[in-house]
Amino acid sequence: MYNLLKGKKGLIFGALNDKSLAWKVAERAYEEGAEFVLTNTPISMRFGDIDKLAESCNTIVVPADATSVKDLENLLTKTMEHFGGKIDFILHSVAMSLNVRKGRPYDDLDYGFLNKTLDISAISFHKLLQTAKKMDAINDWGSVVALSYVAAQKTLYKYNDMGDAKAMLESIARSFGYIYGREKKIRINTISQSPTLTTAGSGVRGIEGLLDFTERMSPLGNATADEFADFCITLFSDLTKKITMQNLFHDGGFSSMGMSYRAMAVYQQSLDNPIEPKLEDE
Ligand SMILES: NC(=O)c1ccc[n+]([C@@H]2O[C@H](COP(=O)([O-])OP(=O)(O)OC[C@H]3O[C@@H](n4cnc5c(N)ncnc54)[C@H](O)[C@@H]3O)[C@@H](O)[C@H]2O)c1
Repeated sequence: MYNLLKGKKGLIFGALNDKSLAWKVAERAYEEGAEFVLTNTPISMRFGDIDKLAESCNTIVVPADATSVKDLENLLTKTMEHFGGKIDFILHSVAMSLNVRKGRPYDDLDYGFLNKTLDISAISFHKLLQTAKKMDAINDWGSVVALSYVAAQKTLYKYNDMGDAKAMLESIARSFGYIYGREKKIRINTISQSPTLTTAGSGVRGIEGLLDFTERMSPLGNATADEFADFCITLFSDLTKKITMQNLFHDGGFSSMGMSYRAMAVYQQSLDNPIEPKLEDE
């Protein structure tokens, strides 16, 4: 351990169970000397294990729906009360799509669901930043990170309206990063993580095949949840003070690849035994 976050105080969204990316970040942040408050929706708190995490990290959980400004105000107030002052870092690790969950294809979206997808997975990030700024909740040179995916730049089979949400999320990081940086020296970035077997990750149809594909395509292999946590800690630390408004790929090189030898080898096999997918399966 390097004590990279000694003396730092934070707020971590999105730890549902021990598979969650946010859970791993909380454990690593604790090891690195940070103190933080945990938050999730009341329903996720009931179905998940966040209380166990809070106990092992010696902290509290404050419930909040990230789409509710009122909840966010209450959350930031309670967090600042808990620490007796402002915080230094925030992790936004929040996403959900009812279109994905209910199997609605991209050319037959339910627009009520789409609004929810965008509100939960992207606009909640704006709400969080705007509320934090109005309440002056983050110390100068603080750091905010949200979680993204390469589907913001490239179309991926079955990722559906979450691709639109991630594109918006990354744009919010840039737009707010300008204002918060200019006025408070606060940095805002997104990390674009490899596919990872979490509760949200498992909701993407074909995740097993996707994991094998991205593993073969990435020269360094898929980035694990533990490796994600390591990277995230560096962004919360004082070692990365001038990184802001970036989408940082943490994906073993996948996003820069077109084709690899290891992926080609599998594709070649299927050329010898061609399968013709039906259009409705695509
Ligand atoms: N798992 C992957 O393959 C992968 C890859 C890249 C990016 N991500 C992103 O990582 C983030 C975390 O997902 P995860 O994979 O750890 O899965 P997860 O299911 O463990 O976490 C998703 C979290 O979002 C929370 N959430 C949903 N609606 C909410 C709301 N209205 N208010 C507050 N919280 C809410 C859930 O309670 C849950 O804790 C998401 O943004 C996801 O899109 C995941």
